[in-house]
This record gives sequence, structure tokens and C-alpha cells, in this order.
Amino acid sequence: MTDYILSIDQGTTSTRAIVVDHAGSIVSSGQLEHEQIFPQAGWVEHNPKEIWDNTREVIGQALSKANITRHNIKAVGITNQRETAVVWDKTTGDPVYNAIVWQDTRTQPIVDRIADGNVERFKAKVGLPLATYFSGTKIVWILENVPGAREKAEAGDLLFGTTDSWVTWNLTGGIDGGVHVTDVTNASRTLFMDLETLKWDDEILGIFNVPKSMMPVIKSSSEIYGTVSESSLLREVPVAGILGDQQAATFGQAAFDAGESKNTYGTGNFLIFNTGEEIIHSKNGLLTTLGYQLGDNKPHYALEGSIAVTGSLVQWLRDNIGLIKTAAEIEDLAKTVDDNGGVYFVPAFSGLFAPYWRSDARGALVGLTRFVNKGHIARAALEATAFQTREVLDAVNADSGVDLTELKVDGGMIANNTLMQFQADILGVPVIRPVVAETTALGAAYAAGLAVGFWSDLDELRANWQEDSRWTPNMETTERERQMRLWKKAVTKTFDWID
Ligand code: G3P
Repeated sequence: MTDYILSIDQGTTSTRAIVVDHAGSIVSSGQLEHEQIFPQAGWVEHNPKEIWDNTREVIGQALSKANITRHNIKAVGITNQRETAVVWDKTTGDPVYNAIVWQDTRTQPIVDRIADGNVERFKAKVGLPLATYFSGTKIVWILENVPGAREKAEAGDLLFGTTDSWVTWNLTGGIDGGVHVTDVTNASRTLFMDLETLKWDDEILGIFNVPKSMMPVIKSSSEIYGTVSESSLLREVPVAGILGDQQAATFGQAAFDAGESKNTYGTGNFLIFNTGEEIIHSKNGLLTTLGYQLGDNKPHYALEGSIAVTGSLVQWLRDNIGLIKTAAEIEDLAKTVDDNGGVYFVPAFSGLFAPYWRSDARGALVGLTRFVNKGHIARAALEATAFQTREVLDAVNADSGVDLTELKVDGGMIANNTLMQFQADILGVPVIRPVVAETTALGAAYAAGLAVGFWSDLDELRANWQEDSRWTPNMETTERERQMRLWKKAVTKTFDWID
């Protein structure tokens, strides 16, 4: 009987289950999208029950496609959209409100109130500026706005978790003994975890007025947290790995050591630079975050450049504007023109994240003339991803003092050759894609597999990484710098756009 690891990837737009073999290849997968709920401008929600139902179903899909049962699965690994907050009642198992998604900006007044003029108030301890992005402010919103939530929380009946915790609690039994845990990488996105001690900080929890009883126990990224309950197709299989999706992708890219990095092109883009056991505080708008922790070993830290809107700009052009019918069509449309025709598209839909952290920014399309057609707009939308990535890479280089000489990439948008070539051009360094581009699922599988001895060590995993293709820069330096100058000018047009 062949053994496998099953990875659950609870992402922003869909939930997937992926069966991974010992060579790190994908054997089968199941996937279901969930509804994106936009109750008001700037609000983004998911239904946690739908996410849990989808999780159960995709596990079934993945097992049946591979024609295997739970007896073939040695462990389950979980990876997730990171800052999306779920608060549920532990006595009923019901969420008290929809999940508030990482892109949601409704908590700006809470951010302003707690920041009291200094958004970097907790940065030295937690590595993050105060921003709507992080899950902590979303818990406060639920406690302050959902009738009865504060009282129930004070009585110890409510639990908070990012979607890793929600899925793990349900998988391991829910109201019948589910374990309430998260890992260090997800905990490092709440605003509440001390980077040094890896514990919840009582003082910050007090300032936010969040009862500690709501918070999950912080565990490493690779250990047995519990076993799957009787009611699941995976019953008795250990849940043994949890990594936030960007950290999982870094792990799946085998970027285990200080100085290694990856960039993921998803709904947003996230560049993670491993700084080893050293906590580096950014002077250039990056976050300090946990990279991974294996069992009792020392944690690895990372610098992260988070970009809120990249792939979701393509979705927006498809769903809200109707410029294209499928996401893949963006490339064909972009290829109908030679260049951007002078158009720059700054998709500051959730404000701007790294390196600006401007919550007052809103999207702008600039440089329009009568010459401009649909192709130029498609091209400007793709180029926006590359320009934003270049700004983040510049910040990584400045903070680390070493220039990255290549960029390992993964995520849905890397199928777009036009974008990848432009990315290499605008960075001036090669862009490299691995054979197994499903690095997020792979990383969570690796974390779980290491915990149960399915893989013995990191060297075994390094040997699984293979290069598939690379794009090399093919743009004159003067042109590259001209483009960046115009992009940065376009960015300034998005500032101060809140009435
Ligand atoms: O920080 C947000 C990130 O974890 C979401 O990633 O891939 O689900 O869009 P993704």
C-alpha cells in the first residue's frame, strides 16, 4: 500500500484538498470555490460554514480521484488564507458572524483609535504596523458590533481563529472535543503575538480588549495537534502541520535557509525572505513575520512584502467590468498591444500594503488618452503586478543589505508568460518556476509529513525541488528605470482619497 500526505489549502477564493506522494508530486486534488460576500464598499466576508462544508467535500474528491482511503493517508497538513478572522460559539459550533476577510477595510476606525497617532505602536514586539489587514482588529469589530458577542466572549463561550484554526477545530471533533490551536505563522498575523516569546501578549490583548480565553493555543508548524474525528472520511489520521499559505509556499519552494525567498502570485502577491533565526525589523515597509517552526526547534523568521491586489485585479476586470470572460484571456488581450500605451493602473482597492501601508489610497488608472484601448488596460493591469513586486524586492534588498540575484515564483498567475517576462524585465533578475508549482499545498504537506516521519529531514525535501523554466531580463536599464519612475508617480495619485 502506498502512503501519502493530504494537504488542505483553505484559500481566499477556494478550498482545495491535495494528495501528495513521497517525491513531492501532486497525485490528485479536489477544489470548490466559496462565495465572496461584499455587503458594503470595502467589506469582504466568507461564510465559515460553507468553507467547512467545502473542506469535507474536497477531501472526498481528492481521495476518490486518487482511488485511495484514509488508510493511505499518513497525516493531514493545513494551510490557509492568513488574517481572515472567524469567531464562533464553542457550545454550538456556530460562527457568530461571517468570517471577516484579510482584504476587508471596515476596521479603519478601530485602527485609528488604537494607534492613537502611531501605527507602529506595537511593531517592535509583533513585527506589524497597525492596519486593517491583520486579524486582531477584525476580532474587535465582531466583539463591538455583533449583539451579545462581548458578553459571550467574557463568559468564555467564544473562540477566535484564522481559518486554519476553524478547519482544525472542526476536523478534530468540533463541539465534541475539537482542538483549538493555530501555528506560529498564523499567530504572527494577529498583532497579538510577541515575536521573541511566541506567546500572546497580555498587554496588547488588554489594549484591544480581547479576552485571552478566545485565543487558540500557539503551536509549532509541524507537530501532531490532534487526530481527525470519527465523523470524517479521514478519521484517526493525525493533523500534523499548519502553515499560513505564504509561509507554506516558502516551505514548499524549499526556501528553508536564511537568504532564500519566494514570491507567490495569488489574489495578492506575497514575497517572503527567510532571515533564519534572526528577527530583522524592516526600515522599508516590510513586515517581520514567522517563517516556520518545526516542533521544538528554534523558529525561522522572515521579512514579507505583502501586496493586496494582483490576481484579484484580473478577477475584477472579469467580474465587475466585463473586460474579459475568463482570467486567462487577460494575456491574449494584453498581447494585442506592444506596450502599455502610457497607461498605469494602481489597484489600491484595499488601500496600499507594502511598502506604502497607505489605508487612505484608492485605485487609479492614469495616463489615459484617446489612443488607449482595451489591450493597453489589460497590459497595464498585468504590469501593475510586476511593478508592485519590484517595489517590494527593492525593500527586501535595502533591509537585508544583499541584492537578490533571482526570484523563485509560484501561484496561479505564473502561467502568464507575458507577465513573467515583464517581471524579469522590470526586476533585472531571472524569474524561476519550479516543476511542482503547487508550492502552498506542498509546503503544508511537508510540514505534516516531517512531523510523522514520512520525510526524514529538510535535505530530503530540498532534493524534491526542480527547476521547470526561467525568464531572463531583456530590457535596457534606462527603460526599466523610466517605467519605474512613471509607476511611482502613478502611485502618488492614489493617496489621500478618503473623504
Ligand atoms: O495574507 C493573505 C494571504 O494569506 C491570502 O492568500 O493565496 O488565499 O490569496 P491567498
